[in-house]
Amino acid sequence: KKVVLAYSGGLDTSIIIPWLKENYDCEVICMAADLGQGEELEPLHEKAIKSGASKLYIEDLKEEYVKDYVFPALKAGCIYEHKYLLGTSTARPLIAKRLVEIAEKEGADYIAHGATGKGNDQVRFELGIKALNPDIKIIAPWREWDIKSREDAVDYAEKRGIPVPVTKKRPYSMDRNVFHLSHEGADLENPWNEPMADLYMVSKNPMDAPDEAEYVEIEFEQGVPVAINGEKLSALALLEKANELAAKHGVGIIDMVENRLVGMKSRGVYETPGGTLLHNAHLELESLTLDRDTLQYKQVVSIKYSQLVYDGLWFTTLRQSLAAFVDETQNNVTGTVRIKLYKGHCLSAGVKSPYSLYNEDLATFGEEEVYNQKDAEGFINLFGLPLKVNAMMKKNQNK
Ligand code: ARG
Ligand code: SIN
Repeated sequence: KKVVLAYSGGLDTSIIIPWLKENYDCEVICMAADLGQGEELEPLHEKAIKSGASKLYIEDLKEEYVKDYVFPALKAGCIYEHKYLLGTSTARPLIAKRLVEIAEKEGADYIAHGATGKGNDQVRFELGIKALNPDIKIIAPWREWDIKSREDAVDYAEKRGIPVPVTKKRPYSMDRNVFHLSHEGADLENPWNEPMADLYMVSKNPMDAPDEAEYVEIEFEQGVPVAINGEKLSALALLEKANELAAKHGVGIIDMVENRLVGMKSRGVYETPGGTLLHNAHLELESLTLDRDTLQYKQVVSIKYSQLVYDGLWFTTLRQSLAAFVDETQNNVTGTVRIKLYKGHCLSAGVKSPYSLYNEDLATFGEEEVYNQKDAEGFINLFGLPLKVNAMMKKNQNK
């Protein structure tokens, strides 16, 4: 029997290897996904083998992640519960997809992951796997074993001669990729606690950001960012550049209490510098290029889309159908946005598009050719008719 394990090299996924061998009597094949977590993954080969795996796949998923998951979500205006840009939620389906591909190639019976039984990630991994291959069975050790603490895990590892990371671990549960970095747990569990000043690992604390503002110009083609400051870049390179510029100015720190799918509230602090910049720039361009009905309906779609992504329903007919709607809305979302970055803020500093629907002649109080102010009177009379009828009814009642 074979199992493919989503492996990070951390203590938790390391002890899953012997645990699987002991409890499922199977060969363990590991898969480490490179999503831009900023860690050297090559050393994991040795580590995985030392922990008892038969082999390790290191998969560079960065470009695919940004192009096919991050940018579609940004294009849809995805934000969960007013704040969260879905940095972890967008990555899980891609990891699930690659796990399934490797499991199929290896003829594996199982896929195992290291997400706990209390979170969203277990749901996202497993729904992704189910959607792509219903025959693969899933193992979630955290829902089965009785390892409860880091001490238990260290103990378990030491008894089996598994290398325990010596680096002083941050007390937070973190998930990092090229789009975002999440911090949960420890002192953050009390929502009355302000995040520690040194919490941030990607973005600068806005308090320490430069006193000089910096302008950045982002060019979009059909809702997708394609160039920064005049330089055409691949999806990945563009997001990296956006991260660098925004992080320097402390942009993209999000602190929130969110509703997990599994019913509980949890507090998280997220660093999404480039994503925040691109999200805001995209909104500016849409304000110029989308008509009112489309823009407002897209806001409604965006809420549902975000929820689907959060809930792990990426590979579903509904999510794909909403994506098709979003794509149709983006035909004219082409143009350039200028943003001023300053101490945690993205300030709009200019927007232009060849498809702009903004008409200065209409907006200014000049000529009366296209817009005749007299027309407004009839419009208001009919538009206001129900209000008037209602008021007349009330007046009669009071007689
Ligand atoms: N709360 C966020 C979400 O549900 C982030 C989860 C981070 N996951 C992790 N394994 N640390 O998407
Ligand atoms: C976990 O529980 O594995 C991380 C948090 C989450 O998935 O929501």
